[in-house]
Amino acid sequence: MAKTIKDYLKKGEAEKFAIGQFNFSDFAQMKAIVQAGQVLNSPVILGTSEGESAFFGLEEAVALRNVLRKRTGMPIFLNLDHGKSFEYLKKAIDAGYDMVHFDGSKLSLEENIKITKEVVKYAHKKGVTVEGEVGKIGNDASRLYLEKFEIIEENLTKPEDAERFVKETGVDLLAVSIGNFHGIEISGIDPNLRLDVLKNIKEKVGKMPLVLHGGSGTPEDDIRGAIALGIVKININTELRLTFSGNLRKTLAADLENIVPYKYLVPPMEASEHLVEYKIRLFTNLK
Ligand code: G3H
Ligand code: ZN
Repeated sequence: MAKTIKDYLKKGEAEKFAIGQFNFSDFAQMKAIVQAGQVLNSPVILGTSEGESAFFGLEEAVALRNVLRKRTGMPIFLNLDHGKSFEYLKKAIDAGYDMVHFDGSKLSLEENIKITKEVVKYAHKKGVTVEGEVGKIGNDASRLYLEKFEIIEENLTKPEDAERFVKETGVDLLAVSIGNFHGIEISGIDPNLRLDVLKNIKEKVGKMPLVLHGGSGTPEDDIRGAIALGIVKININTELRLTFSGNLRKTLAADLENIVPYKYLVPPMEASEHLVEYKIRLFTNLK
């Protein structure tokens, strides 16, 4: 029988590697991510936020995941990333997503637990895996999280909140706030993760697979350290967006007569594929 995403997460937990979630909003990106997984014979998680999936189409994403799975024979999983509304997550579950992430981090812990529980009940009935989130993950280093690269303690996941959340909701994965943030810091200096906080969280939640959001720009030693302490899924979006758009701009600017999408999309796709390969090697300790 084909392995489920839970099987891979369990393996990652036992063998200390992480599976990459790579976000996309276009088929060219989706194909590039899958191609990288195929080259390295590695499972990949394809991620779409609410916005990305609304643009792409939930059913379209599921249909094309199926096509790519069938053609490559690879373990490809589709996750609805940062779902803020239960209604939208239900649509993704009904469409055939493998996993959904309920992001209740802006709610009180009580409210977050309450809705996550409902999501888990609905999703599990349909065999869908659920990621929950406790703590506040910022959008770039200079805003919510950090002032002069000092991590604001209050926004980090509290180990006892994580323990309570996991026990009461029945989630399959937990996203944590340990100094990670979405995007890349504008100064180019990325702050370090709080591995001490991660260690404390892990001690409280046992074998629960932990997720690191905001993987772009995170120092590589921190990524390795986080995996050693129980991170089994790492989300990457901003670096992929920068790579795809940057290469597309360069390609179009270099030849103003190139109006052929199947030609000008090749360099951004290849660059994206190489980036995903690089990240998979990092996450799995491959040389
Ligand atoms: O959920 C998506 C990720 O957390 C992406 O974060 O844009 O910093 O790579 P990133
Ligand atoms: Zn995220």
